[in-house]
Amino acid sequence: MSAEAGIGASGLQERAYGNGALLQTEDVVAGYLPEVDILSGVSIRVKEGEIVTVIGPNGAGKSTLIKTIFGLLRPRAGRIVFRGEEISGLKPHHCARRGLSYVPQLDNVFPTLTVEENLEMGSLDRSRTRDQIDRMYELFPRLGERKRQRATTMSGGERQMVAMARALMPDPQVLLLDEPSAGLAPAFVEAIFEKVEDVNRAGVTIVMVEQNARRALAMSNRGYVLDLGQDRFEGPGKELLDDPKVAELYLGGTARVDQPEQLEQDETAGN
Ligand SMILES: Nc1ncnc2c1ncn2[C@@H]1O[C@H](COP(=O)(O)OP(=O)(O)O)[C@@H](O)[C@H]1O
Ligand SMILES: [Mg+2]
Repeated sequence: MSAEAGIGASGLQERAYGNGALLQTEDVVAGYLPEVDILSGVSIRVKEGEIVTVIGPNGAGKSTLIKTIFGLLRPRAGRIVFRGEEISGLKPHHCARRGLSYVPQLDNVFPTLTVEENLEMGSLDRSRTRDQIDRMYELFPRLGERKRQRATTMSGGERQMVAMARALMPDPQVLLLDEPSAGLAPAFVEAIFEKVEDVNRAGVTIVMVEQNARRALAMSNRGYVLDLGQDRFEGPGKELLDDPKVAELYLGGTARVDQPEQLEQDETAGN
């Protein structure tokens, strides 16, 4: 078993570097309840510097995929490889130490803490906390202006920026974002996508799940369509947008119908 695992791992390492993947999942199977697989063989590949978006209908397993990559769920089969090393089943804090960071869709800030306290909570290295906070205020000037404000009193878009900045505090190589634009007023949706691009330009590889599929794919190097726990389509963001089957099945209907429901009144949008 161990010899076999060793061969498998080094083979994967070669393949990971060979195909240029910084992060990849290989036929990952995972779920919450015994014998109920939510992911039933998902393979995605993310190259260094890319923005990769995963789209798909509600319940397809998008959040489950992100959680499994970040170690919140243990894969039942398949592998997750990051920087040429297998990380399948590593706990979230170990994934964080290796350079992955994760922004959950919900409950992603400490509401009663101030902006600055939220950022402090994201630090993994106290000696660098101050410098990193200052970097975050450069990247998110709006947070610098509101550093003493409690997260609970901020708009949805601002809270999403706090969550992203907190996740960036350890200076991760890859940022995993679960629906960063969900529930935001339109003015903030655009602002958040622009921030994601800024973060990527600053050198962070992005893996993002999004309901706002057209907008997300348009700014992505590559995209995947996940449906019923399997990856169904893969391609450059613009090719997926132009693919008639993808458009018909995933861009015209379900992906958009859900939006009005999620819309949250965001009275400071447009500021
Ligand atoms: N904590 C959980 N326990 C049990 N089932 C869950 C849990 N979270 C999600 N699921 C189920 O997993 C499936 C996929 O959910 P999810 O990954 O959240 O989909 P998506 O993010 O694509 O909308 C759904 O059927 C959902 O009900
Ligand atoms: Mg989800």
